[in-house]
Amino acid sequence: LIKRGDIMDLRVNFMDLSLKNPIIVAAGPWTRNASMIKKAIDAGAGAIVTETILTQVRPNVRPRLVAKGQSMQNIRLYSDLALEEWEREIYTIKDYGGTVIASILAHSPSEMAYIAGRVEKFGADAIELGVASPHGEGIEVLSSNTDQIFNITKSVCQSVNIPVMVKLSPHATNIHKIGKAVEKAGASAISAIDTVRSILGVDINTGKPLLPTYGGYSGDAIRPIGLATVATLSQSTAIDICGIGGIGTYEHALEYMMLGATAVQIGTALILQGYDVIPRILDDLATWLNESEYSNLNDLRGKALKSLKSFEEIDVIPKKAHVHNPCPLATCNACVKTCFYDAISKSADQISIHDMACTGCGICLSVCPEKLFELKW
Ligand SMILES: Cc1cc2nc3c(=O)[nH]c(=O)nc-3n(C[C@H](O)[C@H](O)[C@H](O)COP(=O)(O)O)c2cc1C
Repeated sequence: LIKRGDIMDLRVNFMDLSLKNPIIVAAGPWTRNASMIKKAIDAGAGAIVTETILTQVRPNVRPRLVAKGQSMQNIRLYSDLALEEWEREIYTIKDYGGTVIASILAHSPSEMAYIAGRVEKFGADAIELGVASPHGEGIEVLSSNTDQIFNITKSVCQSVNIPVMVKLSPHATNIHKIGKAVEKAGASAISAIDTVRSILGVDINTGKPLLPTYGGYSGDAIRPIGLATVATLSQSTAIDICGIGGIGTYEHALEYMMLGATAVQIGTALILQGYDVIPRILDDLATWLNESEYSNLNDLRGKALKSLKSFEEIDVIPKKAHVHNPCPLATCNACVKTCFYDAISKSADQISIHDMACTGCGICLSVCPEKLFELKW
C-alpha cells in the first residue's frame, strides 16, 4: 500500500537528505511544536522546517496576523519555545518518522554555531539559518550583508556534521553575491524567499495600519518575487535550492522546480487552505508527472532557465496578435478594454485586430478568458 507522499516518482535528493517528495513545510507557526508538525507529517510532507529557534524567546504581540485574499502580513517573531524545549519536540518528531530541518537564528556567528550544535544533538537532520526576516532588527542588520552571512554560514558549517541551508531575503540587493558567499562558506543549500517587508493595508475608518508595525508579506502575491530570486540563485550557484513563496498548487511547485529548485517549502497556504493542501499538491504532482514527458522530477529541474534570457539577448521579432473567432462570450469586452494601442474591436461574436495598430504587446493573450488570441509573425 502506498502511503500519502510516498509516491516513488516524487523522491528527491536534497542537500544529502533523501526525501520521499520535495514538498517541505516552511518555518512558521504551523511548525511551532511537535503536535503541529505531526499534522504536516500525516499530510505527507517530505520534511518540515521548525519555527525559528532562538536562545531568547520573544513575546507574541496581539494581533500579529492579517490576511487579504490568499496573501498575508505577519509580525510574529519566531518560536515561543525555548531552545531547551526543542529537545523534546525534535525527539518526538524524529520518533514519529519525520525529517526535521531546524531553523535557527542568533546575533553572532558563535551564538549561531552554539544553537546549531545543540539542535544537531537533539537529532535534527539539517539546519536552516534564518538571516532574512523583514521585521524586528532582521532586515537592516543581516539580509544584504554578504560578509556577515558568509561568516555566520562558515561558523555553523564548521561546527556541525549535518547539512546547512541558508534562507535568504528577497530584499538582498546583491542576491547572486550572497548566494555565492553562502556556497563558498560550505552551505549545502539555499532557501528563498523569506517574507517581503510590508504594510498590508490601512483601515481608513480608524486611520490606522492593519498591524501596528511593518511585517512580512507572504502567500500568493509574493510568488513572482520568489520565482525571480530562485532563478537568479540557480544561475549563480551550484548548490541545491529550495523555492519558497506563494506555493499553493502543484503548478506553483513545478514553476519553482523548472527555475532550478530541487525542493520547495509551503507556509501561508497551510493557514489559508489547511493541511489538505499537501496531499492535494502531492497527488496532482504525481498525476501530472505520470502523464508528462518526464520520468522524474530531476528531468524537469531548471528546464525554464534555458529560455530565461537577459533583456539584451531577446530577439525583436515583429509578431502581432491573431484571434480565433467566434467569441462565445457575448458581453465580454476584456480584450477591447485592455488594448491601449486601440488595435482590437468587437462586433457581436466577431473580434477584429487592426494589423497596423497592433504592436504585439501580448496583453490580450492574458486577459482573454477563452484564450482566443495568439502572437504570430
Ligand atoms: C506567520 C508566519 C510566521 C513565520 N515565521 C517564520 C520563522 O519563524 N522563521 C522563518 O525562517 N520564516 C518564517 N516565516 C516565513 C515562511 O517560512 C516563508 O518563508 C514565507 O511565509 C513565504 O512562504 P509562503 O508564501 O508559502 O508563506 C513565517 C511566515 C509567516 C506567514
